[in-house]
Amino acid sequence: MKTGVCVFLAAFVSLGASWCGFVLAPVLQLGGAKQTVILQTTDNWPLQRTGDATLGLQVYRANGCAACHTEQVRQTGMANEVTLTGLGIRKPEDFSAFAKSLFVLPELASYTNAIAASLNGWNGALPKTLFITGDNDLASAMADRLKAAGVKSETRLVATGADIARGWGLRQSVAADYLYDQPVQLGSLRAGPDLANIGVRVPDANLQMNHLYAPKSVAPNSTMPSFKFLFEVRQKINGAASPDALNLPKEFAAADGFEIVPKPEAKQLAAYLLSLKANVPLYEAPFTPAK
Ligand code: HEC
Repeated sequence: MKTGVCVFLAAFVSLGASWCGFVLAPVLQLGGAKQTVILQTTDNWPLQRTGDATLGLQVYRANGCAACHTEQVRQTGMANEVTLTGLGIRKPEDFSAFAKSLFVLPELASYTNAIAASLNGWNGALPKTLFITGDNDLASAMADRLKAAGVKSETRLVATGADIARGWGLRQSVAADYLYDQPVQLGSLRAGPDLANIGVRVPDANLQMNHLYAPKSVAPNSTMPSFKFLFEVRQKINGAASPDALNLPKEFAAADGFEIVPKPEAKQLAAYLLSLKANVPLYEAPFTPAK
């Protein structure tokens, strides 16, 4: 009987401790999360999704999109990006020659080659990113050199990391981004691209619906399954297509006299996808937005 009490207490303490770790601590940390403000503005973040988009989250969930897609951008650090924005009286050719002369500054030596290489074949189009460095002093040394040479440059704070480099977002995802999502569809497997910022990347609802109906009509080698059942194939009324009928390439389109129209679920899902945006700087995930 004595051991019974010990076993009970041991089980109680270990379950209680894990409950504190997995339930209580996150609630204390994030349970009171509120809207925050977008950096250097008075705008709130995030805003409640529209009605359609809120319903779309449930369609996303019901169709298991999160089995193949994540909605979380990771970041490894921050860096300064030095961009050329104006050449003054210099010509693009002179600027390339000038960039090579940067060799004389020892602290810039390792960057000079990279800059010279990126200027190879540059047609003079501005703005032109010269280099990205995590070293603030180096970035300001470079900006000083550019200023002395009579050209204009801008130094921006940017997030770095593989997801950012893939173009999946401008900064890491933070808890505030999901404030109004119930349940949050973070996902853990990336058979397809991350969708945290898809509303900025592909802001066209019709294209989203074409892709859901026939992924190969948008991405020829796509392995994404088709979600045809979110659409209805029906006969055209008096031979005329309805306004929301999909406009698909010939090989994916319906037979003559028929049209493919989205069911409400498809429209809601597209509205949800368009509402997935994480393109503003926040206190806990800052960056300098491009002008
Ligand atoms: C079996 C895995 C799988 C499932 C399930 C899946 N997808 Fe995909 N998805 C992919 C793959 C692979 C791609 C990349 C090829 C392409 O663009 O079609 C992709 C691409 C996408 C894109 C384009 C991304 C971009 O960067 O252009 C969107 C949007 C998308 N999926 C949304 C959805 C939605 C919404 C659902 C649920 C209804 C879903 N996916 C379900 C695998 C999947």
